[in-house]
Amino acid sequence: MIQNDVIIACDFKSAEDTFRFLDLFKDEERKPFLKIGMELYYAEGPSIVREIKRRGHKIFLDLKLHDIPNTVKKAMSVLSRLDVDMTNVHAAGTIDMMKAALEGLTREDGTRPLLIAVTQLTSTSEERMQQELLINASINDTIVKYAQNTKAAGLNGVVCSPLEAGMVKEACGKEFLTITPGVRFADGEVGDQVRVTTPARAREIGSDFIVVGRPITAAADPVAAYRRCVAEFLGE
Ligand code: C5P
Repeated sequence: MIQNDVIIACDFKSAEDTFRFLDLFKDEERKPFLKIGMELYYAEGPSIVREIKRRGHKIFLDLKLHDIPNTVKKAMSVLSRLDVDMTNVHAAGTIDMMKAALEGLTREDGTRPLLIAVTQLTSTSEERMQQELLINASINDTIVKYAQNTKAAGLNGVVCSPLEAGMVKEACGKEFLTITPGVRFADGEVGDQVRVTTPARAREIGSDFIVVGRPITAAADPVAAYRRCVAEFLGE
């Protein structure tokens, strides 16, 4: 059974900045689930993952792999040794690539982290998708089709906007996970995110995990902001 959770996006440039932030949470009973993305991983390498894991956090390693199936399979088998809880690929790599990713990620004993796929990045507009990528479909149909491909490849779910979580669940079933960034408090700054919603609304629409960055990392009191997010999303 998958536990719904709030995932904090650790978009920091160094281990030092990351640990300064994480030290704020050292007396918290609930260890936050953390997302490590390209910036921090490329800056610090696998040691940052091991160190954060050692501190007892769950980790979503957000590296969005997209290459030929053989390369992705081999890269995933290296990442599987890091023992993260969730990682991802681009669904645009095709069903074959996603199947190869799953194979590479699965350890000899059959265990593996959750594997999810990015459908269309939320920074891609329908207009650019049609004009530059020559995809002659609506962005919503594309997202649903990529989610169906992801399910056909045997992955666990997709990253999408919370506003798309309902249609993905409708097309792929309620067990198929939706991991959604673009979450803001009702009284908070939107920043550069466009299609946003609140933690409570994200849960109502069907998000299983929300990925929250600046509303927590840039808050005057990050621990209070995290607690508020958990309370609104999980109703705890
Ligand atoms: O600071 P903020 O809450 O906007 O952070 C959201 C996080 O989710 C960032 O790490 C961002 O890269 C990531 N993300 C996103 N939209 C996507 C995929 C990932 O905002 N479609």
